[in-house]
Amino acid sequence: MKIFIDSADLDEIRQAFAWGVCDGVTTNPSLLKKAVDKRKAAGEKLDIKEYISQLLQASQGSPVSLEVTELTAEGMIAQGKRLFEMFNHIARNVNIKIPINPALKDGDTTHFDGLKAVSVLSDEGIPVNCTLIFTPEQALLAAKAGAAYVSPFAGRVDDLLRKRAGIKFDKSDYYPADGFVHNNELLEDNGIISGIDLVRQCVEILEIYEFDTEVIAASIRNPRQAREAALVGAHIATLPFSVICDMLKHEKTHEGVELFTKDIVIEYVNMLK
Ligand code: E4P
Repeated sequence: MKIFIDSADLDEIRQAFAWGVCDGVTTNPSLLKKAVDKRKAAGEKLDIKEYISQLLQASQGSPVSLEVTELTAEGMIAQGKRLFEMFNHIARNVNIKIPINPALKDGDTTHFDGLKAVSVLSDEGIPVNCTLIFTPEQALLAAKAGAAYVSPFAGRVDDLLRKRAGIKFDKSDYYPADGFVHNNELLEDNGIISGIDLVRQCVEILEIYEFDTEVIAASIRNPRQAREAALVGAHIATLPFSVICDMLKHEKTHEGVELFTKDIVIEYVNMLK
């Protein structure tokens, strides 16, 4: 499984690439706002174009998703092309992130505009990461429209299931991949029993029909969920910096280092000087 970092924070991206575990980057408007706010709070006068250029260079030629902000097909296509023209020459690694359905509510006329934008941009050779996927059928349509990637949002599915059931939770709380029984009922959203189940079903459908589209397990909130994304065959998991860090931790690893450190033989250390 490839690992992308889900961040627009240059320091985090540089660090993750320096560790040798990163295969790409995903950003979204909220992540970009967080990164920009951090720079501004530090008193920096931000040149956003320069910042994004640095971000693309930091990603060492691996794919970086930049999201559009428009909500109509025309707007998204124009922005997607603009982003690609403006930035792809820097490291040849720009993907355009398009929401599967940009309608703000059911019945809006822009319902199919995401698909249209995916199709037009993909036909022009611009790789698209189709985002905000919450059903396997959305993933299937995005793949048919030519998306290079689809991003099912695992954590937000778990949020939805818990919220509907009136369960209090923290965003990083683990939610069982095999579903959760509450008041004698298995929580589900139209046959999806967890965020990881959504990822699994997306992978399965795209593999049955041999699409080239890769599934990015997105909205991953903790290490166990990252593990489960790998177990269900996600091609990629996009992980927040904090999750990448937490994946390394185990109390027995710390204890082991402490015990080995206490037992160091001085002659051994001297030999290595
Ligand atoms: C994916 O590409 C999104 O940027 C991201 O994974 C969303 O995660 P969140 O639900 O934790 O905000």
